[in-house]
Formats: sequence, C-alpha cells, structure tokens
Amino acid sequence: MTAKDKLYIFDTTLRDGEQSPGASMTRDEKIRIAKMLEKMRVDIIEAGFAIASKGDFESIQAIAKAVKDSTICSLARAVPGDIERAAEAIKPANSGRIHTFIATSPIHMQYKLKMQPPQVLEQAVSAVKLARNHTDDVEFSLEDASRSEFDFMCKIIESVIDAGARTINLPDTVGYGEPEEYGAMFGRLINAIPNADKAIFSTHCHNDLGLAVANSLAAVMHGARQVECTINGLGERAGNAALEEIVMAVRTRQDMMPVETDLDATHIVPTSRLVSSITGFAVQPNKAIVGANAFAHESGIHQDGVLKHRETYEIMRAEDVGWNTNKLVLGKHSGRAAVKARFEALGITFDNPEALSAAFERFKDLADKKHEIFDEDLQALVSDVKPQSVPETYQLGDLEVVCKTGQQPTATLSLTIDGKEHTCSATGSGPVDATYKAIESAAQSHTTLKLYSVNAITQGTDSQGDVTVRLEKDGQIVNGVGADTDIVVASAKAYLHALNLLAAPERSHPQREGI
Ligand code: KIV
Ligand code: ZN
Repeated sequence: MTAKDKLYIFDTTLRDGEQSPGASMTRDEKIRIAKMLEKMRVDIIEAGFAIASKGDFESIQAIAKAVKDSTICSLARAVPGDIERAAEAIKPANSGRIHTFIATSPIHMQYKLKMQPPQVLEQAVSAVKLARNHTDDVEFSLEDASRSEFDFMCKIIESVIDAGARTINLPDTVGYGEPEEYGAMFGRLINAIPNADKAIFSTHCHNDLGLAVANSLAAVMHGARQVECTINGLGERAGNAALEEIVMAVRTRQDMMPVETDLDATHIVPTSRLVSSITGFAVQPNKAIVGANAFAHESGIHQDGVLKHRETYEIMRAEDVGWNTNKLVLGKHSGRAAVKARFEALGITFDNPEALSAAFERFKDLADKKHEIFDEDLQALVSDVKPQSVPETYQLGDLEVVCKTGQQPTATLSLTIDGKEHTCSATGSGPVDATYKAIESAAQSHTTLKLYSVNAITQGTDSQGDVTVRLEKDGQIVNGVGADTDIVVASAKAYLHALNLLAAPERSHPQREGI
C-alpha cells in the first residue's frame, strides 16, 4: 500500500455557513459548535469574517481563546482594514490563519470590482504580504476561480505564493463547476505553476447544481489537499460541500482515494444535530450520513440481507459516524453530575454554576412531563435559551389556549416587551394561529412569516415538539427555535425567539459589497 497524503479539513460552518439567510448564530452558539469541531479534530475552523461586525470579531476572538487544537481562521477581503481586523481577532489563537481573497473572474473584476487584472494582481500580493506580517499561516482565495482565465490564475497564484501564501484556495463560488473540468483545473494549475509545491491547494465548492461534494472530491483526485466544507452542507443558496459526506467518502473509498483525514467521525451526528438545532435548519431525512433515514433499511430484501451479512447492503456502520450514541437515557432520578456529563458529551458547556443550575431545572421540569430524556431532548432544552448576546426584548409569561370541537380556538397570554407587561387574547383557525395573533396584537412586529415547521424530537407521543419559525423584516431573515412537550408553547417560544433575534443588532455582508 502506498503512503497516503493528509487531507486537511477546513470547516467554514461558522463563516460561509452562517451567510445562509436566517442562519445567524450568537457568540455562545458559535463557541459551542467550534468546540465540537475541535473534538472532531477538524484541522482549521473558519470562525468568521472579522470586519463584518463587532459580533463576528468578538466571536472569532472568543473561539481563538477557547479552542486549542484546531487552527482558527478569519476571512478578510484583500484590503488593509480587513486584514488588520482579522489579525487582531485571531491573536489569542495557539495557531491562527488569515484567509484573504479577491475575485479573479472577468465578470467579477469588470462588474463587481471595476478593476483591471493588473490592479487585482497588485492588490492580492500586497494583501498577502501584509497578512504575513501578522502570521506565517496565510491563505489566499481566487474568488470565482472556476470561471477565471487560466493564464491569469497562473500569474496571480505564482505571485501570491512568492509573497508568502501557504494555502491557495480555488472556489467554485457560484456552484458552476462540473467534476471533470473543476478537478482537471487543479491538475493543470499545479503542473503549470513553478512554485506550486510551496503551497497546499484547496477546494471550496457551492452546491447550486448539487455537485459540491463531487467537485471537491474531483479536486482531491487532481492534487487538492485541503477541502473547505460545512456541517450539513449549510451555506448560502444551495449550500456548501457537506463535511460529513466528504469525510465519509474519503474513508469508505480508501481503495480510490490518495488521501486520508485525521477526523474522528464518531462526532459527526452529534455535531450535525447541534448545528441544526442552533440554526433551525432541519436536516432532511434522506440526507447522506446525518439524515434520520440514512441507515434505515426498510425494504424486506435489504433487511434480510443485512441480517445475514451486514455488508450486503451497508457500506458504512452507523455507529462509526455517531449514530446510536443516544442509548444512554436520562430520567427524573438522574442527578446533576450525570446530566452535566451528558450535556458535555454533546458539546454543551456552561460558563458558570448558575447556568448549569438553570439548565438542570429545565431538565427536571421536562423529566416530570416526559419519562425518558434523550440526547435530542437535551439539545432542544438549551436551543432556545437566549444567550446574553441576544437581549430578551420579548418574554413569554403565562399562556392559555382553549380548544373545542366546532369552535375557534382562543389564546390568552401575558407577554413582556421591553420590560412592559401586556395581556393579549385572540382567536384563530387553530391554537398556534390564535397564539401568534395574540402575540402580534401586542408586538405589532410588521414581520412576514416565511416558514413554520414542527417536528417531533424523539419517538412517542410524549416527545417534545421542535418548532422553527422563519421571519422576515426589511430584508433581514431570522430563524427562531423553540421546544416543549406542548407544541403550542414550543410555537410561542420559537416565535418570540425570532422576534428577539430581529431586535438584536444586524451584521453586514462585506463579501457582497465587494471592495
Ligand atoms: O465562495 C467563495 O468564493 C468564498 C470565498 C470568500 C472563499 O466563500
Ligand atoms: Zn463560499
């Protein structure tokens, strides 16, 4: 067997994933996810875009302090202000990276940047040199590489490597690439550029044509040794290449792959659930690796084969990616230490004993209503806790709903808005509709409801309902989440969570603004 190269896993859930409309995460939520990524042995965590907002900057800084084993990276446009801000944000990291980028395709240079290629080249080289004053670990991305001209890419890549870039990323920014063409682009560039051996080539694919993972793997076949990806494929539009699919394809097809990763795949499912519960982006049941049905063999022929010899129909083992880790069940007699340990195994830690006590109280309340508490219940228990960085402008008090066959349901509730108490009541076509109308009679939020979804978190009729509410106001989109054994209460919590997110300061999106 020939020695395999290492494939570096660069996770951008907290940066490109967060650019997905409605996927904004708070600092505390980002820290939780970053710690899970570290546990999974992700090599590089792109923690945010430092110049985007004060919140992004503080999140990167906090992650740089909290995470020790993974490299912490900030994105920066190829301009001095961005690079200085990124450098400041990653300063506390054991190992920090600045990732700077500029667009190189004719269409982006002409219409977005309004710059000539020589100017773009000059700006790229200056940016990399400036970043190298702060760290040895500098990555340079040619935004929209898959639509860029080959000779110009050769020139700019050779120059930025000479200027000190150690990773060269060739994004398929708009998801236009096709595996053979995109993979071959890597091979041709690596062969043509004289100093290509001084850098690691990286892939970064968007999923607009459903080809992000295929394109990433094709690039690996042609020499890429870093893959940029996100948990659950989270990301703008159709999302980014899914980390779990890349990692398991590399592992399962070792007969084909020239690389291996250091990842501990047993943390994949818990991390997927964490990201889904924090962002409110549900994972579709048939999603590869992390979907609820990914390992469910329903057909009689399959079941028979699996029982006789597992490998007849199974190419991976569910437990290898972290399924079935929720066998340990907690209940009303479980003590604080057991509950704390289970929270920690799920990547949920508490900053102080009071926060743990509050979570333990919520656990006890739930255990009174529900016999067995699973991992999914614990994750839901903390998903709608508003961290300090999201002020609780709206707070739910009592909620009463009266439903009777043949009559319109009526909801009556007390609500605190900015410290002022309101009592409101409304009727609606169903109990949730009545509750939302009652909330709106006091909140007058002028938002548009884009999505309402409710899922059972676990099996059984005593399951908690997990509600996601997507609201839009003046172009800003947020996802509120709420969980409770009573789905009307869960719905109210999710709605108020969304209103609280809308009331929090908004972040800008410098990647769209160009330079
Ligand atoms: O898709 C893209 O081009 C990006 C770059 C900033 C790396 O996200
Ligand atoms: Zn991207």
